[in-house]
Amino acid sequence: MKTLTTIGQLKAAVGQSVWIGCWLNGKRSSGKIQFLQLRDGTGYVQGVVVKSEVAEAAWNAAKELTQESSLYVKGIVREEPRSQSGYELTVEEVEIIQIAQDYPITPKEHGVDFLMDRRHLWLRSSKQRAILVVRAEIIRSIQQFFDDRNFTLVDPPILTPSSSEGTTNLFHTKYFEEDAYLTQSGQLYMEAAAMALGKVYSFGPTFRAEKSKTRRHLIEFWMIEPEMAFVDHEENLRVQEQFIAFVVQNVLANCRKELETIGRDVSKLEAIQAPFPRITYDEAIAFLQEQGQEIQWGEDFGAPHETAIAEKYDRPVFITHYPASFKAFYMKPDPNRPEVVLCADMIAPEGYGEIIGGSQRIDDPELLAERFREHELSTEVYQWYLDLRKYGTVPHSGFGLGLERTVAWICGLDHVRETIPFPRTLYRLYP
Ligand code: 4AD
Repeated sequence: MKTLTTIGQLKAAVGQSVWIGCWLNGKRSSGKIQFLQLRDGTGYVQGVVVKSEVAEAAWNAAKELTQESSLYVKGIVREEPRSQSGYELTVEEVEIIQIAQDYPITPKEHGVDFLMDRRHLWLRSSKQRAILVVRAEIIRSIQQFFDDRNFTLVDPPILTPSSSEGTTNLFHTKYFEEDAYLTQSGQLYMEAAAMALGKVYSFGPTFRAEKSKTRRHLIEFWMIEPEMAFVDHEENLRVQEQFIAFVVQNVLANCRKELETIGRDVSKLEAIQAPFPRITYDEAIAFLQEQGQEIQWGEDFGAPHETAIAEKYDRPVFITHYPASFKAFYMKPDPNRPEVVLCADMIAPEGYGEIIGGSQRIDDPELLAERFREHELSTEVYQWYLDLRKYGTVPHSGFGLGLERTVAWICGLDHVRETIPFPRTLYRLYP
């Protein structure tokens, strides 16, 4: 094999002759010069093939190249401030690996279904590549935030015997002779882990068989779920706002080029600094009613409600103290007003909706038992969870961040389907 340099490393090779392994993104020709737009995953560079300066074989090979053909190119690296990468290759040799036939995604506009059917190829486009780079940076930042603060990464199971968030949207499967479900949230297991390790977080896939076809819903999505022993509702919110501000500022520091490729207005992200505004559910209802919206106390918000509330702010907003009636069984009631719970949803700005759901958890065994009766949950199936309140219960809190909604917001994308390499949506399981 040849010793290869990557496009991302050209800076260190100015003036040298190097080989790169790449694909042809596009080509222009002016008769005596061919301009090859080359990409290798780490970046883009233009290869300049001058007829009078290369062997005939190299000239002819360059001529034969079609979009997405794979090749090795040898060339001298030159600084070129006008090009996207800042460098250019004066081509010396061209070695074809394969000539690609009729690549289906051409520079013309294609519909979303056409592109989604070819998602395995669409990933090669500069915008899709940039989104995946930003997604990876977001994941790295998330892990750094929690690792730096001495949280331990814990992996909850994916196959579970019961639900954690509600029974209506579970994916059912068989576990030999038993029934099993794909996890909707690792939270209950993370509560067990927090009692063992203090501060923990998980990062993994979750599955919801929701018949929702919106720009915010995926069937399979990735969630980050921190859980903290001896932490109350107030501190839970402080961790969340510092966490989100850290992730956004990290992406701004490390992914400027990618955000530019995606076309993101970065001034909107620069404003994302803690603290974040907070309003109670009651205040949110009053505000929406003033706006003439049809919503009553006791009803949950829909996307248009969340958007109307978020529009008032330039950074994410917490909506706190929702009615217990439609929230999960494990949320701790407000001691001053038991009809509402110590929870918060974090709503992203610019209409991206809820990115975090979190709460202080019920730590009192009697109250939890009462909730089990109200929600008709089996104390047998959840015996292990009830044990956590029996053997040294403590106040504790946690939250879940949806990765794809966060990527959609930070990248400024219309739809979550572009935030994950191979999206699983209501009508899509392919490719
Ligand atoms: O609000 P949710 O349902 O919260 C929980 O699952 C808690 N157990 C988390 C916890 O406290 N540990 O989901 C959390 C987040 C939402 O705010 C949203 O960002 C994302 O997960 N989410 C989805 N993202 C994409 N597609 C879907 N269908 C989603 N459902 C939730």
